[in-house]
Amino acid sequence: TQSNKTLDERLLAVCELLDHEVSYYNWVGFYFKNGDKNELKLGPYVGAPTDHTIIPFGKGICGQVAVSNKNFVVPDVSAQDNYIACSITVKAEIVIPIFVNGENVGQIDIDSNTPDPFTEDDERFLEFVCEHVAKQLA
Ligand code: SME
Repeated sequence: TQSNKTLDERLLAVCELLDHEVSYYNWVGFYFKNGDKNELKLGPYVGAPTDHTIIPFGKGICGQVAVSNKNFVVPDVSAQDNYIACSITVKAEIVIPIFVNGENVGQIDIDSNTPDPFTEDDERFLEFVCEHVAKQLA
């Protein structure tokens, strides 16, 4: 049975759980395709407020995942040319796309203040989370 929570409340709860349970997840948020525009819009998140509430497809790590439909693991953000900095404390980032009926509708974006913290276990775990989230969106 579903709880009474709204979708955004449930997505925020996912962010809070991930942020709380994994020490090296320091900013956790969702971006979703903004209607029929070729851009992402910030959804629920936990962590420092960001100016980047809209990200055009192709820009930054998030915008690249909107186009590639692939996981993007960045061990060292300073080595990326196409990167949008949200906070100077961030060292690494992981973005995992969310698919509904095969369509890339958004993503989980996680920043870490620890250098090179993400393993294939993080990818598999976050893919699992994204599949669960996709069911809430369908
Ligand atoms: N660093 C991201 C932008 C979003 S912030 O991490 C919250 C990027 O390069 O797309």
